[in-house]
Amino acid sequence: MSNFKGKTIIITGAAMGLGYAAAEALASKGANLTLVDYNNDSLEKAKNELKEKYPESKFLTVVADVSIEENVKKYVEETVKEFGKIDGLYNNAGIEGKQAPLIDYDIDVFKKVVDINLMGVHYGMKYVIPELQKNGGGKIVNVASVGGIRGVLNQTAYVATKHAVAGMTKNAALEYGKDNILTNAIAPGAILTPMVAEAFKQVNPSDPKVAEKEYASRNPTRKLGDPKDVGNLVAYLLSDENGYVSGQVIAIDGGESNMYGNS
Ligand SMILES: NC(=O)c1ccc[n+]([C@@H]2O[C@H](COP(=O)([O-])OP(=O)(O)OC[C@H]3O[C@@H](n4cnc5c(N)ncnc54)[C@H](O)[C@@H]3O)[C@@H](O)[C@H]2O)c1
Repeated sequence: MSNFKGKTIIITGAAMGLGYAAAEALASKGANLTLVDYNNDSLEKAKNELKEKYPESKFLTVVADVSIEENVKKYVEETVKEFGKIDGLYNNAGIEGKQAPLIDYDIDVFKKVVDINLMGVHYGMKYVIPELQKNGGGKIVNVASVGGIRGVLNQTAYVATKHAVAGMTKNAALEYGKDNILTNAIAPGAILTPMVAEAFKQVNPSDPKVAEKEYASRNPTRKLGDPKDVGNLVAYLLSDENGYVSGQVIAIDGGESNMYGNS
């Protein structure tokens, strides 16, 4: 895959999980990275690990909450100050919320999920797109979910916001394709990250491993996804090799979202 030397990519939610995996994929190809997260300790730990593994790449950390517009402005401004330009955005930070049937779903949790998963992605595009326009174009990858193309029991807020991410992605691709900006969303199935480990705890608090095994047994591949697979897909979509994929919601789920009944 093409080299990212001299390219600057912003990754939100970079401290762990799918954000960290994409940071590894991009740093291994020489990208300069702005790592954004609201968890300062985990962010510093992630940066130190990445610096040691990938000494060729440069890393800027910005502690920011993507649901706060001023924070998003700040991570964009600091990136331009440090690296001079922006080539791509991996708009990844998101939360699951709490699992509950629709009529019992806590409204404060619902609003928080909307603020982070929907508004956070919108603010990211709102402030990065003008920088990509100045730079003659660029790439955006938003993180939706299989919950952005299908329903998921007891996750009404998550599913609503991930469908919104899919919609905003299509709109951004339509509105800014003329500026050489390609925008896509990925729709991961169950990839074993801290967020998914937490979801299995909610399903089976006394033995989350049972929930994990049961979930994996329903996938056509009989396994959960590896964050590295997602990192590689994201790196492709952000690379120069992607010349014409835009406005798509790309499932990365072992084929599970095509299934009807048991496989
Ligand atoms: N893991 C999966 O199987 C899976 C499946 C589908 C979609 N996703 C999506 O992928 C993205 C990453 O998920 P993950 O599994 O890596 O989660 P994770 O919880 O393991 O990591 C998320 C990271 O984002 C950060 N973060 C959360 N809210 C933030 C905010 N408001 N501002 C800044 N940083 C914030 C967290 O501190 C954490 O470092 C999410 O949008 C999630 O919905 C994950």
